[in-house]
Amino acid sequence: MSESTSPGTPVPATQQEREAEVTRQVLASFDGCADPRLREIMRSLAHHLHAFVRDVRLTEEEWARGIDFLTRAGHITDERRQEFILLSDVLGASMQTVAVNNEAYDDATEATVFGPFFVENSPEITQGGDLSFGAAGEPCWVEGSVTDVTGKPVAGARIEVWEADEDGFYDTQYGDDRTTARAHLFSDADGRYRFWALTPTPYPIPHDGPVGALLAAVGRSPMRASHLHFMVSAPAQRTLVTHIFVRGDELLDQDAVFGVKESLVKDFLPQPAGIPTPDGRDLGDRSWSRVRFDIVLAPEDS
Ligand code: BEZ
Ligand code: FE
Repeated sequence: MSESTSPGTPVPATQQEREAEVTRQVLASFDGCADPRLREIMRSLAHHLHAFVRDVRLTEEEWARGIDFLTRAGHITDERRQEFILLSDVLGASMQTVAVNNEAYDDATEATVFGPFFVENSPEITQGGDLSFGAAGEPCWVEGSVTDVTGKPVAGARIEVWEADEDGFYDTQYGDDRTTARAHLFSDADGRYRFWALTPTPYPIPHDGPVGALLAAVGRSPMRASHLHFMVSAPAQRTLVTHIFVRGDELLDQDAVFGVKESLVKDFLPQPAGIPTPDGRDLGDRSWSRVRFDIVLAPEDS
């Protein structure tokens, strides 16, 4: 290994010039790219990547560790486990992409990170139905409306909901074919919806792989604040991917993937056993909770 200037010490001008020349050559290598957008992305990526290597004076050993990290992320990734999305999430790159692509529009509900646990073709439930399908947890009555930014009700909006059970596991983590704690329903003619879910509880993102090791190395927790995922779509409206969070959760300001926004923190009102439920459901000696979430969709092309 050769000598290099250590971080913090000034880099001599001739050395700076040698390094800048490498960057120039790499940027120029994209000049012939026929796709202008790909050219822009690759030039910017190379520009920032080179700046990072030079900024921290990356050693060859550190470079090799980075390559090893990415190799391990690749090896642990399959159809059920996506370590690269987790990496993007814990680096805040997922939330930054959400921010760039979902500019605030009037009072439209804010978007947040999608996460790796959405599954296509969830079961449909009717209004007032129960999406838990036997998953463990305290029942939670969820109700609200779907409107556009003018306040007009959006009937027939498809509302996808998914969440972890009370032990912090999604059905895709059970290791069998069960479908629990996820469903979709449609808003009614007045744009309203109501269903039973589970009171959300905090859980860790999968942290038994390289991303978990990275979080441990930098002294960060893998825990996510308690939340319930929503994806809401309707003709002529921007599809909304979001969650609602539980007011009072102590993890709200340290969510592992930076997904919390104040506007998405809701009151999940605890209901002791014996309090009548809105639909007359008999919950015996179980406590339950209730929350209201009024969803405002931005127009499709906003
Ligand atoms: C989730 O909320 O399901 C999630 C989001 C990002 C990473 C891991 C899990
Ligand atoms: Fe989640």
